[in-house]
Amino acid sequence: MDALADRAPVVPVVVVDDVAHAVPVARALAAGGVPVVELTLRTPVALDAIRAIAAEVPEVLVGAGTVTTPEQAELALAAGAQFLVSPGATASLLGAMGDTGLPYLAGTATVSEVLAVLESGRTEMKFFPAEASGGTAFLSSVASPVPAARFCPTGGITSRNAAAYLDLPNVACVGGSWLTPKDALAAADWARVTALAAATADLRAAGQD
Ligand code: 3PG
Repeated sequence: MDALADRAPVVPVVVVDDVAHAVPVARALAAGGVPVVELTLRTPVALDAIRAIAAEVPEVLVGAGTVTTPEQAELALAAGAQFLVSPGATASLLGAMGDTGLPYLAGTATVSEVLAVLESGRTEMKFFPAEASGGTAFLSSVASPVPAARFCPTGGITSRNAAAYLDLPNVACVGGSWLTPKDALAAADWARVTALAAATADLRAAGQD
């Protein structure tokens, strides 16, 4: 996860409906200083979108998000994904994501899930859905009993509350879809995506206060 966090304080969670949007959205994010994309496996074109970004935008680290089955982990690897993100942390998913050899973030929302990921040998994990699962209060509460865990919270995070998460010592980065709004992609408004990405530079500064 350090590779992700070092890239940007915000990992953009991207839903692509039209594969033609994949490369321009990745370029737009990179132009705004965010050279990382979590391309969610929620649409039929998602694997092709990962393939296109991996081939045509080498400056961007592209990963697969919404990995919910072992098969998806394998397909994402084959498509060129450089990291994996799952909303959950079942034993079979942890095994399959580990088998790819890629860095990955498994999803946690309870202390038992956090412990399961730690038992699997990983200290980095997603906290999802962050706002609905207790937000910054949850993360502050688990810092003392589970000090090894480091989180990338996602779900309900926006430019308004991201800094509060990044201020926490057990948060390495946050994830969110607000950099790539559906209407901006539909309108091919890449300048807006670049501007939203550029605005996250302030969050890095806020997180380092
Ligand atoms: C995810 O998969 O991480 C979430 O769907 C992103 O949540 P958001 O849309 O609330 O940012």
